Amino acid sequence: MSTAGSGAWFAPGRVNLIGEHTDYNDGFVLPFALPHRAVVTASVADGGPSRVWSAQQDGVIAFSASTVTPGEVTGWAAYVAGMCWAFREAGYPVAEVDLRLDSDVPVGAGLSSSAAVECAVGMALAGLAGVRVGPTELARIARRAENVFVGAPTGGMDQMASVHGRPGRLVFLDTRDDTVELVVFDPPAHGLELLVIDSRAPHAHAGGEYGARRADCEAAAAALGVPALRDAGPADLASLADDRIRRRARHVITENDRVREVAAILSAGADPREIGPLLDASHVSMRDDFEITVPHVDVAVEAARAGGAVGARMTGGGFGGCVIALCDTDRVGPVISAVRSAYAARGWAAPVVFPGRPCEGAGRLSS
Ligand code: GLA
Repeated sequence: MSTAGSGAWFAPGRVNLIGEHTDYNDGFVLPFALPHRAVVTASVADGGPSRVWSAQQDGVIAFSASTVTPGEVTGWAAYVAGMCWAFREAGYPVAEVDLRLDSDVPVGAGLSSSAAVECAVGMALAGLAGVRVGPTELARIARRAENVFVGAPTGGMDQMASVHGRPGRLVFLDTRDDTVELVVFDPPAHGLELLVIDSRAPHAHAGGEYGARRADCEAAAAALGVPALRDAGPADLASLADDRIRRRARHVITENDRVREVAAILSAGADPREIGPLLDASHVSMRDDFEITVPHVDVAVEAARAGGAVGARMTGGGFGGCVIALCDTDRVGPVISAVRSAYAARGWAAPVVFPGRPCEGAGRLSS
């Protein structure tokens, strides 16, 4: 990569086909990159300071990219300043920059709008500095920005999906060592559509609950004497005395198995309809064992199934966000109607629905 005085870079949001809350347990996930993207137009700001604008926010935020440390920038610009900090921490040069952000990744919908911004900014910083940063390293830097600078204790799935995504491919990720295998996923080729249904449920207490689930998983692994729940199996569950901790562990252990099963079905070129029951089982596990669903997503899943979906589940961190529903193309209309009617009957705002098809991961926009 040669030094660029300016340019535009992008990184997409993601949908996770299956594998929820497994990424911080050294487990498996199977996300894909969305067509929705964050775009960063960037140029070197001689004389500094760095400035960042967002098409979705008012005003301009100024900070020093070459000295900023955690706590100095908060709010939406923390994702940007955090990338500057994490880039420096990784040993790369960071000049003062002017960055203009624009994103069509829905915010608060569990589609990784923050990872999209982080990865797009990371691409821009690498491009402006003229350094080659591999996709996995970029994702790790972005995760560090999110965990340490922003202070969200997430795993690494979102950033890895954003940089490794490819059209028509799922990113089968082993989060223990960040190995990636691309798996073909082309629903229309099988007369199918994967609908993404944004429940638009109000996100209440999501931050604290996420950390609480993570703590429960760590407590389960410690009680079992394993480094992470990835290393435990169903036979270990009986030895967990605490009912809540046992159910949390059961979700992670069974979810890891479901991810591997879905990846095996799709890698073998089998009919994607075969994954339907695994999507359904994942939802039940998140609802009953991990307790991260809310009425808006449970109702959407039930209505989608009643409308004829071959499988449906909540996707993302939980407590709101999106549902995915795998449907035969001739059931797309009935499934959408069923979900809309169920929402209308409860007086809820209509959900936003779009087809989820795997798209290109982070890159440079050609000028
Ligand atoms: C959020 C986090 C991810 C992952 C999911 C749940 O999206 O950012 O790291 O833990 O929740 O699977």
